[in-house]
Amino acid sequence: MTKTIGLICGSLRKDSYNRIVAQAFTEMDSSLQFRWIEIRELPLFNDDLDTDDGGPEPVRVYRSAIRQVDGVLIVSPEYNSGIPGVLKNALDWASTPPKTAALLRKPVGVVGATPGGKGTAFSQQQIRQTLDAIQAHVLPFQKVLISQVREKIDADRGVLTDEKTRTYLQRYLQHFVHWIDHIPVLD
Ligand SMILES: Cc1cc2nc3c(=O)[nH]c(=O)nc-3n(C[C@H](O)[C@H](O)[C@H](O)COP(=O)(O)O)c2cc1C
Repeated sequence: MTKTIGLICGSLRKDSYNRIVAQAFTEMDSSLQFRWIEIRELPLFNDDLDTDDGGPEPVRVYRSAIRQVDGVLIVSPEYNSGIPGVLKNALDWASTPPKTAALLRKPVGVVGATPGGKGTAFSQQQIRQTLDAIQAHVLPFQKVLISQVREKIDADRGVLTDEKTRTYLQRYLQHFVHWIDHIPVLD
């Protein structure tokens, strides 16, 4: 059956390099469907808003989008050696209610790109820590740390042009999709 992969970008910036990287995934395997899961409209997390009817409309739309996909790829920058606030906010909204949280046992891959040299390593560490707390399944054996991203894209066209990075991402995507079918089911 055709798998659907959700894409969450941890940057709200119009010309986000991470969004360009995420977009590249959508061109790498025609047997997959991709769906953007947007986080821009989510309110700041507030437990008072997290009502039994599913909460505010953007939260309901967001949670439902996660539930409908077979796996989620998070492609995110790093801010001040950590997870972008907008992404943490989105992950918190996908963490409740605990027993039926949208990200509970959802297969997730974590990818990041930066114009700097460390490839978002600190941010990815924090993203994984949060996903661990939510009990999402995080692809354990492969990391994608894209450094010097400006040299790897054509910013005017919004395209990831670096062939080595494209090949690496394609293999990562293959592993991610294969792994989804091999995650042990726990009750
Ligand atoms: C407030 C702020 C803090 C940043 N901190 C880091 C950082 O700790 N590590 C890093 O690699 N890049 C850092 N950057 C640079 C971002 O990687 C860069 O702005 C990148 O383009 C953001 O991703 P985007 O293009 O997907 O929006 C920071 C940028 C801003 C605005």
